[in-house]
Amino acid sequence: MMNGRPQFWSLLSPAVFAPAILLLLGTPDAGVTQEGGLTFSADIAPILYENCVRCHQPNGIGPMPLLSFEDVRPYASRIQRKVETRQMPPWHLDKTIGIQEYKNDISLSDFEIEQIVSWVDAGAPEGDPTKLPMLPDLPDGNGWQLAERLGPPDFVMESPALTVAANGQDQWLIQRTPFEGVIDQPRYVRATELKGAYPLGVRVLHHGHVTLGSRPLGRQGIGKSGDVFPENTGMLIQPSGNLLWNLHYFPIDEDVPNTRAMTAVWLHPEGYEPEYTTNGEIRFTADAGGGMPWAGDIFIPPHSIKVQQGTHVLNRAALMTSFRPHMHMRGREQSIEAIYPDGRREMLGKVDNYDHFWQISYQYEDDVAPLLPKGTVLLITTVWDNTADNPINPDPRQWVVFGQRGVDEMSHVWVGMTYLSDEQFETLSAERARLTAEQDDR
Ligand code: HEC
Repeated sequence: MMNGRPQFWSLLSPAVFAPAILLLLGTPDAGVTQEGGLTFSADIAPILYENCVRCHQPNGIGPMPLLSFEDVRPYASRIQRKVETRQMPPWHLDKTIGIQEYKNDISLSDFEIEQIVSWVDAGAPEGDPTKLPMLPDLPDGNGWQLAERLGPPDFVMESPALTVAANGQDQWLIQRTPFEGVIDQPRYVRATELKGAYPLGVRVLHHGHVTLGSRPLGRQGIGKSGDVFPENTGMLIQPSGNLLWNLHYFPIDEDVPNTRAMTAVWLHPEGYEPEYTTNGEIRFTADAGGGMPWAGDIFIPPHSIKVQQGTHVLNRAALMTSFRPHMHMRGREQSIEAIYPDGRREMLGKVDNYDHFWQISYQYEDDVAPLLPKGTVLLITTVWDNTADNPINPDPRQWVVFGQRGVDEMSHVWVGMTYLSDEQFETLSAERARLTAEQDDR
């Protein structure tokens, strides 16, 4: 549900109160920017251009473009429902608890949601087309998202091909390709980005990993962008070995023959020694990851809500830069909390509106990224909804156990971690304290 002033709008029935709403819209605190109420051209297009069209454009992953009034009008009521329930834009974080400052936050403000809701209630008028803002530059679906910030990648690798039939089951590709000859000496990686081949491969690759030994050269999920390591941080890779591709494909309504995945890698300059080293995202589980149920494994009764928790003690200090929840179709909530060695407990982040289609990585702003001392316990809590109230539950009569398929379950979080020596932890903590003091002074 909406934050802010949900009671107000949800109590009014549009049919009965439309005139009243129009009247209210005339008051300045309802956010009207022109006489006569909210219009697409003046008020709504700027919100969509800023928050929706990067995906909802002909080359994007959104199912329909939302560029013009003609594009948007038929979807008005669906747009209202999706933004009011915070399903769109995809950002499924609980806004009432935990850290709220993220680099990639694409959520709408309460005010923007209210504007869209009341515009649709008022009949979704177009208004004066000369008031339309300029369309932003739309991302080219074929390019690398990180290239805008980092320039072209140092190298790109391709997975073996796989055909994804229109209405088949989900499929996995697990295969090796040689890495020999790509680099000629050990190098530090600065960033990676994995994606399906444009255009249809982008839509069928639900999530995937490509690793070189223990080093990830790309971890992807729908809605997740590439991984850029923090400043002065790198991941060391060797010039030999094999890439292991582990790709999970979901069918769409058309055949996608011989599709593949590609990963782009940006390196630090030759000879560069980073201050901090990382392995990128690391998996912290709440389940035991087994097949049939034993203690710690997943076992969800029919028609039930089930909670599972798992803990991990950090035997080294760490800087946590992101988290990415992972459950399947019964997943509803997942959170990650820190229990510090002094007993203090802090919610680091919680998703309360999980949608299995999306694999979003929540990337902390630098000045709030959790600095975790050695001995911190990470507590992961998963809530599954195996009732008929879960709109994507394939069958609430089933017992559900661990498994790869979307109809089975999992329970883990991918966490962006940079492990630190005690000395590095002290340095970063002192820096953080200084920054916070400066901000408080202002
Ligand atoms: C990161 C990409 C992305 C962004 C940003 C995004 N969408 Fe979407 N949208 C999608 C995808 C993919 C789907 C289909 C899957 C789903 O429904 O989750 C979708 C589905 C929808 C639907 C349902 C369509 C249907 O046929 O029922 C609506 C409505 C919608 N989006 C509106 C919006 C609006 C409005 C915004 C901005 C306020 C927005 N979206 C932002 C990618 C995006």
